[in-house]
Amino acid sequence: MRRFVIVGSKATASPDFLLVDIPSTSGRLDVLLRGLRAGLLVSHGLRRDSVVYLVLQGERERTTTLRFDGAAARYMRPDDRSLATVIQKALRTPCESAEFVPVRAGIAIARGGVEAVLPELSGAACHLLDEHGADLRDAPLDPNDIVFFLGDHLGFADDTRAQITTLTATALSVGPRSLHTEDVIAIVHNELDRREARATTQIPGDDV
Ligand SMILES: C[S@@+](CC[C@H](N)C(=O)[O-])C[C@H]1O[C@@H](n2cnc3c(N)ncnc32)[C@H](O)[C@@H]1O
Repeated sequence: MRRFVIVGSKATASPDFLLVDIPSTSGRLDVLLRGLRAGLLVSHGLRRDSVVYLVLQGERERTTTLRFDGAAARYMRPDDRSLATVIQKALRTPCESAEFVPVRAGIAIARGGVEAVLPELSGAACHLLDEHGADLRDAPLDPNDIVFFLGDHLGFADDTRAQITTLTATALSVGPRSLHTEDVIAIVHNELDRREARATTQIPGDDV
């Protein structure tokens, strides 16, 4: 199981944004949409072993988190507008629960931010992604249960970074340049995909 928690420091939890102008009417929800696509979708399909959380903390007093579970999600199209529509519909679901409440297959909503995600992460290896972290390529990564935290276009607010740092084993970097959130997720998936493929490839003579 691979999990990505993307924190939108300005992203709105209100469904009243405009699909024709997502970036400037939603607190840059477009950054999170692209992160969702990179985290959950592959060409013509979904990653069934991946879960993406979008933390919408644009208005701190009504911070809301959406959970997208690739094992159960259906009919997710990759374009920004379709993903924004899915999110808009999910945000129309009234929710005051600190625990995740199902909205539709594979999608759930909870009131609260990173703290709403924490009960789901017990036992998992948690990593903050940061360009100044240790090199992902050299890091031991648990392929069975691993969590990555990412910021949006502004990075993490100080209090959010402090909250995440108490949970995380190591900060990891995918390289020396500051990249877009969705590109970082694609690189992390790729690294895990490659390790998985290597682990499952039979090495000739290995079975004798
Ligand atoms: C566009 S970057 C944030 C840039 C922001 N100005 C800052 O200084 O944090 C979005 C997120 O992607 C992740 N990120 C960006 N570049 C990275 C890198 N080279 N390695 C690991 N994570 C990275 C971080 O989680 C970051 O918060």
